[in-house]
Amino acid sequence: MGRLVIMDHPLIQHKVSLMRDKGTGSKEFRELLEEVSMLMAYEVTRDLPLREVEIETPLAVSRTKVIAGKKVGIIPILRAGLGMVEGILRLIPAAKVGHIGLYRDPDTLRPVEYYCKLPKDAQERLLILVDPMLATGGSASAAITFIKQRGVKNIKLVNIIAAPEGVQRVRQDHPDVDIYVAAVDERLDEQGYIIPGMGDAGDRLFGTK
Ligand code: PRP
Ligand code: URA
Repeated sequence: MGRLVIMDHPLIQHKVSLMRDKGTGSKEFRELLEEVSMLMAYEVTRDLPLREVEIETPLAVSRTKVIAGKKVGIIPILRAGLGMVEGILRLIPAAKVGHIGLYRDPDTLRPVEYYCKLPKDAQERLLILVDPMLATGGSASAAITFIKQRGVKNIKLVNIIAAPEGVQRVRQDHPDVDIYVAAVDERLDEQGYIIPGMGDAGDRLFGTK
């Protein structure tokens, strides 16, 4: 079974609390999302493989380590996942970025795909799928399925806030995928919003309604 990693680092918890606050406007929400994503990426990449290289320092030749092979792909689920890309790129500037367009049908809550573009060599990379919210888990599960259909095996899912239902759904559909979150909240309401959550992440990020 994939791991569920809940990141309880004080900086992450503090910033997510500010994001939850309904008084936080789009500008600050965007900045906080970027910062939290960067902090989470540090932990998500903890087990990237390393290889030895020879480096000449000003004083001596040393054998030291760099990240091995093709690095990472960041795959935001549109729209709200876009807000997590810049923060991760600040830590991994060489990462390639793909996009998956999905929206939740408001009546059925089922994901509808409208776009998918992955890096050409996606199969050789760790793909980090990002979306601030894991509610029913329908969007994340469908996105992982699309990625797997293109031959990708090494996938991690990163969300800021999850509902227990979403975690369960992804673990059931994709037991090989590790999930990283800042918080698992209480429940979903009848409209599929996470309670207490932080409302509609896409709308808060882009100032739409
Ligand atoms: C939100 C969120 C996730 C999805 C989560 O996106 O960003 O993608 O809902 O819900 P689920 O786990 O029940 O599938 P939304 O469909 O509102 O689209 P948007 O990002 O374009 O606003
Ligand atoms: N999507 C959001 O943006 N927020 C929720 O609470 C659930 C799904």
